[in-house]
Parts: sequence; structure tokens; C-alpha cells
Amino acid sequence: MNLKGKKAFIAGIGDDQGYGWAIAKALAEAGAEIIIGTWTPIVKIFTQSWNLGKFDESRQLSNGKMMEYLKVYALDAAFDKPEDVPSDIKENKRYQDAASYTVSEVAALVQKDFGHIDILVHALANGPEVKKPLLETSRQGYLAALSASSYSFVSLIQHFGPLMTEGSSAVTLSYLASEKAVPGYGGGMSSAKAALESDTRTLAWEAGRKWKIRVNAISAGPLRSRAARAIGFIDSMIAYTRANAPLVKEMTAEEIGNAAAFLLSPMASAITGVTLYVDNGMHAMGIAVDSPTLQV
Ligand SMILES: NC(=O)c1ccc[n+]([C@@H]2O[C@H](COP(=O)([O-])OP(=O)(O)OC[C@H]3O[C@@H](n4cnc5c(N)ncnc54)[C@H](O)[C@@H]3O)[C@@H](O)[C@H]2O)c1
Repeated sequence: MNLKGKKAFIAGIGDDQGYGWAIAKALAEAGAEIIIGTWTPIVKIFTQSWNLGKFDESRQLSNGKMMEYLKVYALDAAFDKPEDVPSDIKENKRYQDAASYTVSEVAALVQKDFGHIDILVHALANGPEVKKPLLETSRQGYLAALSASSYSFVSLIQHFGPLMTEGSSAVTLSYLASEKAVPGYGGGMSSAKAALESDTRTLAWEAGRKWKIRVNAISAGPLRSRAARAIGFIDSMIAYTRANAPLVKEMTAEEIGNAAAFLLSPMASAITGVTLYVDNGMHAMGIAVDSPTLQV
């Protein structure tokens, strides 16, 4: 796969543990240039950690070089324009130093700095009440999950679409809880992923016709990322998948990275509006084969 000269904007990298990082790395392996959008409150710690060499091991590419970035932007994808940011957030000390972090502002900055992009990755989500069952989720918590985890993708495509060259491609990350009940994935996050997958189809149609770009989603298996650790039951989900999925092996972030790089490359030039499962086949199962009730 050759993505030499392609510019990729990846929204949602905060460390070297998540899917955003793995996708950036797969794109860098193929020669793409990486532009990063990091959540405003953690952008300083991310760049400091990078500069201190904390990610050096993870930055190693197979050709012996290190993954580099062109620029890191502070981004809060829950806000579209400066007027949307409430004063308590504006005045929060982790936001005070950062100027221009709403989606429209970051898109304008990327346009000023680089002119265009060829690849857009949405690897972010947030559900403040994710640990609460849906039955106990507040309206505010539910809408916050939808805003940060689903509308953020719509907003990114709205604002970056005009910068995307013909044939460009966008990818977002979903999870099986969008279509099957997964106890523990609460706070409206399951609803947010369902919206995200539906929006992927509608955005594929609208952005395909408007800008000739492709829009796809990956429904990813469980990974021990920072966000997943915060939900709390990630180790059980990894063990459950290992016990019940058709492929009995640990799933790696690299496998998601490679699938995303394919969808984002010209090799997938006729693929748009799909949600591709990259989960060791877990989605195909109708029963848990390790259930004690099956052992009699
Ligand atoms: N880890 C899993 O098991 C798993 C499975 C399926 C799908 N996913 C999805 O993959 C995506 C990436 O998550 P991850 O698990 O790799 O964790 P992660 O912690 O690496 O990534 C989530 C990122 O979202 C950022 N973020 C949160 N709110 C934001 C906002 N308002 N604006 C900008 N950035 C914001 C966080 O700072 C973090 O960097 C998410 O959409 C997640 O739902 C994860």
C-alpha cells in the first residue's frame, strides 16, 4: 500500500495505546504524513510525553524510521465554534492556554497550514455516564455521549469535507454495542454508536455526492485503551472475546490500524457507507460457547 504524499488528519490521539495511534502508525507505515488532533485538556501532556521520548518505542516503523507528525492541534470535538464553548470550560486552566480548538477553527487552521487533507480519522468518544445503565442515564449524560461520540463525526466531515481532495476517505470507530445489548456499556454510549453507524451511511451518500469522498466505519473488538480502561470491564470483554470468537487469539490495535489503512487507501476506492467488523469474528456469534449452560 502506498500512501506517499497523502496527508492524514487523525482526531483522537492522546497516547500510544489507542486505536487512533494504531491507525496513524499504519498510515505512516504506508508513507502518509500525519496531522494530529488531541483533546484540548491533554494536548500538553501528549506533546510533552512525545518530546520526552515516552512514545519512542511505539513510534518505530518497520523501515527503521520513527513515526513523525507534521503538527498537533488542540481539538475539542464537542464544540463546533467558539461561541459554543461554555464559560466554565473556557476558563478551565487546561483550556486557557489553548486558542482555537473547536472543530471549525481547527479545520480553518489545517487549511491555512496544509491547504488540504486526503484522509480523515475520527477515533474519539466520550460518555460521562458510561458506567451507568441506560435506565439510570440522565438526559444530559445521554446527550453528552451523542454530542462527543456521534455528532463530532458529522461535524468533522462538515468542516473538513471542503478540504478533502476527490477520492479522499474518512473512517470512524464503532462497537458491537450499537446493535446488540452489551451490559456495562451504558450512559447512552450504545445509542451513540448506533447513531454513528447510521450517520456513516448517510454521510457516505451526502459527502460522496458533494465532495466525491468515502465514509466508512470499523466496528472494532475490545482493546485495553485508556478510554476502555475507564469504562472498567475491558479485561473481561477481552477474555470473553477470546473464549467465544471464531478466531482464538488476542486482537491487536495493529489489526485495526491495518484495516483502517486499507479503507482509507485507494485500494478501497469502491467501498463507502460500510461498517466493517474487525473483531476476530465475534459479531458473527449468536451464543456464548463458554456458557456453563452449554456444558451439560
Ligand atoms: N477500546 C475498545 O475496546 C474499543 C472498541 C470499539 C471501538 N472503540 C472506539 O475507538 C475509538 C478510540 O478509542 P480508544 O478505545 O482507542 O481510546 P483512546 O483513549 O485512545 O481514544 C479516545 C480519545 O478520545 C479523546 N476525546 C474524548 N473526548 C474528546 C473530545 N470532546 N474532543 C476530542 N477528543 C476527545 C480522548 O482524549 C482520547 O484520546 C472510540 O470511538 C472508541 O469508542 C474502542
